[in-house]
Amino acid sequence: MPSISALQARQILDSRGLPTIECTIWLDTGVAVTTSLPTGTSKGKYEAVELRDGDATKFNGKGVLQAVELLNSTIGPQLVGKDPLNQASLDQELLALDGTPNKAKIGANTLMAASQAILKAGAASLNQPLYYYIQQSFQLTPSLDIPTCIYTMINGGQHGADNLDIQEFELIPASYLDFQASLEMAVTLFERLGQVLVTKGAIHSVGLVGGYAPHLFNNTDAFEIQVETIKASPYTFAQDVFFGVDMAASSLYQGGKYRLKDKSQPFSSTDLLEYYKTMKTLYHAFYFEDPFHEDDIASWKSLTAEFKDTAMIVGDGLLATNQARLTQAIAEGWCNAILVKPNEVGTVSETLAIIKAAKEAGWQVVMSHRGGETNDSFIADFAVGVGAEYDKFGPPNRCELVEKYNRLWQIYTEISALQAAPTVQTADNEGPQIP
Ligand code: PGA
Ligand code: ZN
Repeated sequence: MPSISALQARQILDSRGLPTIECTIWLDTGVAVTTSLPTGTSKGKYEAVELRDGDATKFNGKGVLQAVELLNSTIGPQLVGKDPLNQASLDQELLALDGTPNKAKIGANTLMAASQAILKAGAASLNQPLYYYIQQSFQLTPSLDIPTCIYTMINGGQHGADNLDIQEFELIPASYLDFQASLEMAVTLFERLGQVLVTKGAIHSVGLVGGYAPHLFNNTDAFEIQVETIKASPYTFAQDVFFGVDMAASSLYQGGKYRLKDKSQPFSSTDLLEYYKTMKTLYHAFYFEDPFHEDDIASWKSLTAEFKDTAMIVGDGLLATNQARLTQAIAEGWCNAILVKPNEVGTVSETLAIIKAAKEAGWQVVMSHRGGETNDSFIADFAVGVGAEYDKFGPPNRCELVEKYNRLWQIYTEISALQAAPTVQTADNEGPQIP
């Protein structure tokens, strides 16, 4: 069985020009795999620690050279000679090096760079596509399907131009549209939305995560412009396509209330819950990510009870891809879906355990990119391999995001070819054979 012969990590830049980690593992067969880590914009208090150098003379303190050094000098030598198929035991070794609950010693980014590279090396050692290797090895889903894509069209809040409060306005395709049809719709609507914004003199630029960051008066305008765009397109609003929001509500929270430009007075939690009911009725929104502050648990529970099975109440900053938070959230009914950001956790094995627990609770899993991305499409394979119901990779715009959609498209064509040719021979250990 192939074993790891070397690991080399280096500092690279993410899509925002901030340092992040790239890591290569060589197998003794001569095969090499490379992976890189995204970085987040928001930093919730429940997130694991991301190791940054803090040296203000270099990259404004955001360098990751300590992480790179740990990978090259400590983690790499420890992995040499090991079988990359032993993901669980290698992840345990990595966790033992840290030993803290929030990865405070060596950083979740350091650990995940190695863990993710091990996963890719495992797939490469069997000559299997990554998504297929994940599905076969960890058995979190019986079938290979492309998740429903949640397309971010407009960036507001901390990702926008400072005039919209809602961090992300999402378009969600109806479930009867397959991936290819949904991507075509998203691309069509994204381009048309840009044209509508230009016509209205509202175009600004793209935001931090590639969606439009327009000059609009308030959040309602953003919904109305999207409805107008869809109505003038070949698609039918509330039939082919629905709305969702990432409120990132912790960033709207001041003195126990929520500040949104739609009203001159701040919203109480009860006002905000009413606002979501209106959004659901008027705009057919059924996806509400971080609708309340991460400690306003009573409001989360009320909204989840109110919407029951008719909307997705999604914990992002609330849960921070953290097992302990998820366990409590499931037991107490805080929400009914989890946004999974693997780089928040520290190892692949812990991420898989979180996904398993969410699935067993009947929750939906949304696999997410981060605000700072790289050209690695790892997350696309991971989403398919674990059977995530949804993914959120931003708009179909800018290379680092389009890369994820193009990878999904590749996987889509491979899976479609397999399904169309059920008699095709699949050699042991070699994954799907595409005719
Ligand atoms: P992030 O933001 O960059 O902090 O991951 C994206 C989100 O809030 O979903
Ligand atoms: Zn979010």
